[in-house]
Amino acid sequence: MEMIDGYGRRINYLRLSVTDRCNLRCRYCMPAGGVAKLDHQEVLSYEELYRMACASLACGIRKIRITGGEPLVRKGLVSFLKRLTEIPGLHELVLTTNGILLEELALPLRDAGVARLNVSLDSLDPGNFSRITRGGDLFRVLAGIEAAERAGFPPVKINMVVMRGVNDHEILDFAALTRRKACTVRFIEYMPTLRDEDWDVQSVPGAEILQLIAQKYPLLPLVSGEMAGPARNFKIEGAPGAIGIITPVSGHFCESCNRIRMSASGQVRGCLFSKQSADLKALLAYGDSGLLRQTLRRIVREKPGQHKLAEEGVQAASIAMSRIGG
Ligand code: GTP
Ligand code: 5AD
Ligand code: SF4
Repeated sequence: MEMIDGYGRRINYLRLSVTDRCNLRCRYCMPAGGVAKLDHQEVLSYEELYRMACASLACGIRKIRITGGEPLVRKGLVSFLKRLTEIPGLHELVLTTNGILLEELALPLRDAGVARLNVSLDSLDPGNFSRITRGGDLFRVLAGIEAAERAGFPPVKINMVVMRGVNDHEILDFAALTRRKACTVRFIEYMPTLRDEDWDVQSVPGAEILQLIAQKYPLLPLVSGEMAGPARNFKIEGAPGAIGIITPVSGHFCESCNRIRMSASGQVRGCLFSKQSADLKALLAYGDSGLLRQTLRRIVREKPGQHKLAEEGVQAASIAMSRIGG
């Protein structure tokens, strides 16, 4: 069984947010005043999330990425993930984290069967990191990345959201990191979040980022696989690590989009910028797997062809990143 959408794209990747809570408050993800938190009873139980995973896999999903908020703040996550990896049909269980709790959790996550980790890290300077995250401790993230390596994970992918005047002066430092470590650093164009009126002043086009790096280091393009994410990848000659560019704004990758996503309260969106969502909470609570699969197929059929960031700007954003997990 596979799911093909109205534009011929095979949808095999589910981004599953397990919480809207976070232990950081990154400025590109939430407004200064924070965002309203979900009530406890609105958040799906692990049983409901498990049902969602089973239904998705039955429909043709092969890769599940656990997101948040910050997924590692949810209690009981590791045992839940272990159960997920035991469902037949799941090729890859992966997770995106801010790394703050990774030092303690890397080994249990690896033992549970998580295949790979992406870590959000937007500055290599402790002061700047603290400003961007509104109080986060860079050293905990770095210790988390090291713990992931010790636990036997493949080299992590570091996600750096580039913001003009905030951390763009660190682009070359991040590029240089790939010459010392086997990690992949992915530079991401800043996308608008809710009520984020000046996002486009801060968003740096991927082409500009690449050019800056290529002026200092010759870059070799790398080929991506079928299950690959949205990045275009490169390598600095002779470097153990790799560089990725993710350009949702300047050159959106919608034509090869393979994903759907669910918020921690059961709202499923065909696109990160979908204005409408399907509310699966009741269906998941009730456990009608036939109707659940039917609804998932409908969401995929109705998945939009592409986002309308260019036309709508900040109006295109319909949900906080912390709610939908990026
Ligand atoms: P890999 O499977 O390792 O390539 O991960 P990924 O890039 O799919 O996931 P990750 O959570 O690391 O996201 C990286 C960046 O891409 C984040 O800024 C996400 O918000 C953004 N992103 C991921 N999927 C989409 C998408 O479908 N649309 C848009 N516009 N951005 C996305
Ligand atoms: N623009 C681009 N990427 C974002 N992320 C969160 N908010 C934004 C934004 N406004 C990224 C985080 C994380 C991933 C899941 O989404 O850096 O790595
Ligand atoms: Fe897919 Fe929407 Fe992202 Fe485009 S913006 S890549 S269609 S989820």
